[in-house]
Amino acid sequence: MNIFLQHNPTKLYFGKGQISQLSGEIGQKKVLVVYGGGSIKQNGVYEDVMTELEKAGATIYELPGVEQNPRLTTVHKGVEICKFEAIDILLAVGGGSVIDCTKAIAVGAKYDGDVWDLITQKTPIESALPIGTVLTLGATGSEMNPISVISNWKTKDKIGWGSSHVFPRFSILDPTYTYSVSRKQTTYAIVDSMSHALEHYFHRTKNTPMIDGFIESLLRTAIGTGPKLLEDLTSYDHRETMMYISTTAFNETLSNGTDGGDWATHRIEHAISAVYDIPHGGGLAILFPNWLEHVLEEDPSRAKMLAMNVFGISDEGKSDLEVAREGAKALRSFWNSLDAPNRLSDYDIDDHDIELIIDKTFVKPGVGTYKELDRDNVRDILTRSM
Ligand code: NZQ
Ligand code: ZN
Repeated sequence: MNIFLQHNPTKLYFGKGQISQLSGEIGQKKVLVVYGGGSIKQNGVYEDVMTELEKAGATIYELPGVEQNPRLTTVHKGVEICKFEAIDILLAVGGGSVIDCTKAIAVGAKYDGDVWDLITQKTPIESALPIGTVLTLGATGSEMNPISVISNWKTKDKIGWGSSHVFPRFSILDPTYTYSVSRKQTTYAIVDSMSHALEHYFHRTKNTPMIDGFIESLLRTAIGTGPKLLEDLTSYDHRETMMYISTTAFNETLSNGTDGGDWATHRIEHAISAVYDIPHGGGLAILFPNWLEHVLEEDPSRAKMLAMNVFGISDEGKSDLEVAREGAKALRSFWNSLDAPNRLSDYDIDDHDIELIIDKTFVKPGVGTYKELDRDNVRDILTRSM
């Protein structure tokens, strides 16, 4: 293992009814409540949040309308409100997009220039307003990590960035708040959570049996629970299991002691979303198995481990490469069984903009660590995905 520091300051309130903790966390502050396109007004979460904030005696401001794949223009609106109204704390109520947008507002509110300078790391981030979250869709792990992804539609860039200043102070995770998440969005969430675990798994650090076993267990649990959840979207048990999986898959637990894994698929997916605005989980479902097939040809070792320890594939009488290939196929079949997309043509994407997508993939240098990809490698993965 590598030396590592584990320090995650997010206080997690997990379980039914935990919204009751909100008033104590906010108190009599000026709070900006950030949310998306209105799902929280249909499923009762908005009312629960407002009741708690009124109980706390908070002064409430609102920023609705955060897009899926949140946009810089919305971040600008939030920053303006924070500066003009001297907001004390931000409360994100929603999924990853709402939380990511809130993180960007939090750093922009403490900065005199354009927040895009911070997102693109042109200027270092020195402070942020505090953030709390009420999660309504468990997928990204944003509720317990220091990461955010923002799209600049003008320049067609979708940039992932991070800062220890934007760890949420607290996050409230009530599985019943996710009952209303659609079947399609639930599929994307299962794929995104599994992708986070899988990308952590493809590291090159030696002697990591504990973390490898942890990731394998998480994946087997997702494979066991995902299909049952899609059959019964209001099952408390299955929603709670998937919610805990999604948070754990990307709250830094799975990188303890390793080199962090290989996030090339996320980089390529963000590049596609920057150009075509497709759902993140949908893009990953298409790309990850093709990335896996691309890399296992050179080094089948970890794909073989995945095949055997997660999908129960036997290696009897087979070469490492054969077992690894069976593992990649099993992953694809599993995601197909959830009705996840498996070709870019499912989103009407052909090779017309392939060079632009490759350019956007390399918007930051260094794509991939398990295998460092060059432009031809990315083109190969995209071509396999058409
Ligand atoms: O807009 P609202 O009304 O909130 O509706 C949303 C949206 O339409 C809906 N939804 C959320 N909770 C719901 C619900 N509908 C019914 N009932 C509920 N309880 O679901 C739709 C998708 O929401 P969104 O927040 O966009 O999804 P997700 O959580 O998958 O977030 C995706 C974004 O996060 C980024 C992605 O790139 C993408 O921009 N990521 C962020 C990461 C991070 N911060 O760590 C890592 C990830 O890998 C990812 O890149
Ligand atoms: Zn993701």
